[in-house]
Amino acid sequence: MRKLGLGKKGIEHRIKEEAQQLVETFAQANGQPLDPSLPITNSLCNVISLLTFGQRFSPEDEDFQKLVKAFDFVLKLVGTFSHILYELFPWLMEHLTGPHKKALSSVEIASLFAKKEIEKHKEYQTLHDPQDFIDFYLPEMEKTTNDPNSTYNEENLAHCIMEFFATGTETTATTLQWALLLMATHPDIQEKVHKEMEDVFGSSCLTYYQDHKKLPYTKAVIHEIQRSNYVFLCGIPRQTEKDVNMQGFHIPKGTLIVPDLHSVLLDPEQWETPEKFNPNHFLDMDGRFMAREEFLAFGAGDRVCVGEQLARVELFIFFTSLLRAFTFQLPAGVKELSLVPALGITTHPQPYKLCAIPRCST
Ligand code: HEM
Repeated sequence: MRKLGLGKKGIEHRIKEEAQQLVETFAQANGQPLDPSLPITNSLCNVISLLTFGQRFSPEDEDFQKLVKAFDFVLKLVGTFSHILYELFPWLMEHLTGPHKKALSSVEIASLFAKKEIEKHKEYQTLHDPQDFIDFYLPEMEKTTNDPNSTYNEENLAHCIMEFFATGTETTATTLQWALLLMATHPDIQEKVHKEMEDVFGSSCLTYYQDHKKLPYTKAVIHEIQRSNYVFLCGIPRQTEKDVNMQGFHIPKGTLIVPDLHSVLLDPEQWETPEKFNPNHFLDMDGRFMAREEFLAFGAGDRVCVGEQLARVELFIFFTSLLRAFTFQLPAGVKELSLVPALGITTHPQPYKLCAIPRCST
């Protein structure tokens, strides 16, 4: 992941191209009400495609649409009654019909897509100029063919790719859906973000690595979107490798731990108005951005989210590109939109429509 330019400028210009495509898609609605969820998911799937396969796909590409829909189905099923039954009684559920069967065939679709791309890469292997995750992985696999303990193999590569799609699209897509909803329902905050960008940059281009520190208010708003409307119901389950004593509790080796990140992100002892969307949580008295230790949206420790840096760049570039291009408003006649999340493995907004009104300056 590091070699692919995360944490440097490498992938940023590709993300910007993708954000620009999204701006164009929104512009086609001519200010009429639109549901932003599918265009956002397509764009973020394309960022992961660029990272893993080295190319983006057109929204009309049938195989790519099948892949997007397959992940959507699986992720929506996670945590439902049917999924829990499958986890508890897999041997029984194998013989029964139900949505778990469609989920299993969706995983198969995704795996076949990944394997097809791996084959293509093997055929046109660009060993001297690796461009994407598969390009970097294949030589490692070759180097370790004679090592019986190596974890580099095609099956694992296909799993890594599927994991990037599963963890790297829904999370950022859901955050951006919340972002637009919160901006439409908090027009004063939206205007402050826009004004800050206009004052600092006018109409010149904006990059993450050079510019994010120059936009403290915008940064605070993005952090607050992630904190107040956190996308995960709970953290990723982990297992203790040894006995642990923590705050007087004995946790034996092999215990399954499910972190509850809401307990820190909404902790009333840490945040002034934990349940309320309030960018001041990340600003000091002088309006400077304040990093907060309690902001654990990406987890912590050795297994912290591997996509954290990518996600930060994506959220900044997509959010600033969209807010520079449009004012987001509720459709005429709509007084309010629900901020109550729909539950799933990610807590996404209820389906909604808003109007993206083009800004005159852009
Ligand atoms: C808003 C966006 C995102 C949020 C809030 C988020 C959050 C998290 C969290 C809380 C974890 C578990 C960390 C732990 O157990 O301590 C995690 C793991 C992971 N994330 Fe993210 N993530 C985001 C975006 C991404 C992106 C863009 C990728 C792209 C590659 C990604 C890839 C992963 C992977 C592969 C893991 C599993 C790591 C492991 O098993 O060790 N995430 N993420």
